[in-house]
Amino acid sequence: MKLTAEIIQANWEIFLTNIEEHIPGNRGEQLLNFYKRYEERVILMPAAHKKEYHGAFPGGYVAHVNRVVEGSLRLYDMWEEMGCDMTTFTKEELVFSAINHDLGKMGDKEHESYIPQTDQWRKDKLGEDYMFNKKLAFCSVPDRGLFLLQQHDISYTFNEMVAIQTHDGLYDVANEKYLKTFMPEQKPRTSLPYILHQADLMAARIEFEQEWLPKFSQNSVDESKNNYTLKTKTSSKSKALNTLSSPGLKDMLDNL
Ligand SMILES: [Fe+2]
Repeated sequence: MKLTAEIIQANWEIFLTNIEEHIPGNRGEQLLNFYKRYEERVILMPAAHKKEYHGAFPGGYVAHVNRVVEGSLRLYDMWEEMGCDMTTFTKEELVFSAINHDLGKMGDKEHESYIPQTDQWRKDKLGEDYMFNKKLAFCSVPDRGLFLLQQHDISYTFNEMVAIQTHDGLYDVANEKYLKTFMPEQKPRTSLPYILHQADLMAARIEFEQEWLPKFSQNSVDESKNNYTLKTKTSSKSKALNTLSSPGLKDMLDNL
């Protein structure tokens, strides 16, 4: 997927507006200064380095974060309507967590996480435009994001820390200690982590659909090949091949 320069620019403006509208005071200013300092990096960042993941194209990161912020705010209303106790966290905490949930993907002060792929074969054959920057020491995305915030003197609350830490839900086994406990006193004291995870999951799923579903329909076996036979092929293997049930394999054979 490719975003136009206009869309990338518009998404960046939405990103900054979300900070201005939802993160008040000194913290909001510090956050704005932080993102403006790294603007050139963040504005064009992909959301992932592998094309199989969501948002692996220039501007994919900001587009994803904006979708998570919007989804979080919509889910906030739904959770409230469904009876959730909304006094255990603030809307500011929700938006702050959504804006920064994937910040660790940025890399560190000096190094970007995702750099242009240098292996031409992987670029051509696998469509990988990016690769992970090996100069960067390993760190999980939530840990690096929280480290970056404290490194730039941007404070975060306990609720925000847990939400950012667990935004991948149980897709990350490291979160089991927060989310897979049966002891009531150990369960999160707020629904914020669940709302953020739900918004992130929804955004990533929608981005997957936008990127991949059109590709699958382009590659599907067309009607004329549904009654595939190997009548024109006279090798002794034809009989066995006639019984193939895989449409993909039949399609491949049709093109031999
Ligand atoms: Fe995310």
